[in-house]
Amino acid sequence: MRITVIGTGYVGLVTGACFAKLGHTVTCVDIDEEKVRKINDGIPPIYEEGLEEILKANKNRIKATADHRSAIMSSDVTFICVGTPSRKDGSIDLTFIKETVIQTATILKEMNRWHLVVVKSTVVPGTTQNFVLPLLEQHSGKHVGTDVGLAMNPEFLKEGVAIPDFLNPDRIVIGSTDSKSTATLKELYKVFTCPILVTNLSAAEMIKYASNTFLATKISFINEIGNLCKHLGIDTYQVADGMGLDRRIGRAFLDSGIGYGGSCFPKDVNALLAWAKKNKENARITESARAVNNDQPLRLLRLLKKHIPKLRGKTIGILGLAFKPNTDDIRESRAIPIVQALLKEGTTIKAYDPQAMPAFKKLYPQLTYCSTAEEVLSSDAILIATLWEEFTMLDYRGKTVIDGRRLEQAKNAQTYEGVCW
Ligand code: UGA
Repeated sequence: MRITVIGTGYVGLVTGACFAKLGHTVTCVDIDEEKVRKINDGIPPIYEEGLEEILKANKNRIKATADHRSAIMSSDVTFICVGTPSRKDGSIDLTFIKETVIQTATILKEMNRWHLVVVKSTVVPGTTQNFVLPLLEQHSGKHVGTDVGLAMNPEFLKEGVAIPDFLNPDRIVIGSTDSKSTATLKELYKVFTCPILVTNLSAAEMIKYASNTFLATKISFINEIGNLCKHLGIDTYQVADGMGLDRRIGRAFLDSGIGYGGSCFPKDVNALLAWAKKNKENARITESARAVNNDQPLRLLRLLKKHIPKLRGKTIGILGLAFKPNTDDIRESRAIPIVQALLKEGTTIKAYDPQAMPAFKKLYPQLTYCSTAEEVLSSDAILIATLWEEFTMLDYRGKTVIDGRRLEQAKNAQTYEGVCW
């Protein structure tokens, strides 16, 4: 199939690259000429494990352009993968979706054959049906369902393992208005053996939000249990193992610590809450999951103060700044509220992260960034905020460590406290 992917963020580019790997002809569209040039040179503008190899190995089947028209006119399916940034109130901003749909529809007006438009961007329930569909019909002059196809196909990719997640999915969700759109997407995904669930447009959108919010809630739940376990010195990880053996529960996403960060969970939780509010609903469970997550990193600080009541003038080390290991992404990283609180206390901060220091430096130039993890160990106390593999190699003997991610080796420290175990 000939596929256009609009937006070359990590979802768009991984989707495009994986479809090319599967033998399809892919054109990635982005307004950023620099990104376009890089992709055409086989260099991914974002870091994602394995992406460069796929781009290079499938150069004959994937190209990038800033020209929407040529891409769409020569393809059968267009995936919309543009960003939906958060507004101040947590709701999502549909500006890029709107621009892209109008642009696509205007091009489709000239097309004298059927074409399928697929929304892959994360949008709150009702957006494709009530916002995208009318725009598409209005600007293309075509009827959705007969002249043009429309589908909603959420992604479930984790940063860092997005390629294996794409190529080995648990499920594929197709929200669709008509059988031709469904059949086209089923054809595209026919190489996968996982279940394919066909729903209407809004249910597909809700599956994405419900999945992310559920996983975020699962993390906050185990953190709450962990906070209780701490009172009796119960090992929360053993509790998680015990719970996880129940197939109805499952062990995944039960690692307790300082909470979830990243570009997805916090944003999607906020968007669901804003959307619930708009619908005059009180989403209490999700609200609580967010409240637990906001407090969890501050617990690390409270524990630190138990050991060093007067933080002013002290040097505190932070190991890990990325929102999770194996990425340079610091969006909503739990290290951010920790750093903010430490700065307020008047501490000097020594920090180290194998990948995320350049990004963090832009936000907090006043920290001392160390060139090795060992350098951080000379601080008055060390906080572990991200579980990077290399932190397992350090010698923590004689140190004070307050652990936010449960690093087994750090238990050798002279003083060791886990945030919720
Ligand atoms: C998340 C989802 O896992 C993907 O399925 C989804 O497609 C993606 O969001 C998205 O919506 O695009 P991602 O944000 O890349 O993926 O990261 P995760 O690996 O899920 O981790 C999120 C946060 O939860 C991290 O800060 C991590 O440290 C934390 N976490 C995760 C825990 O605190 N405990 C756990 O047991 C698991």
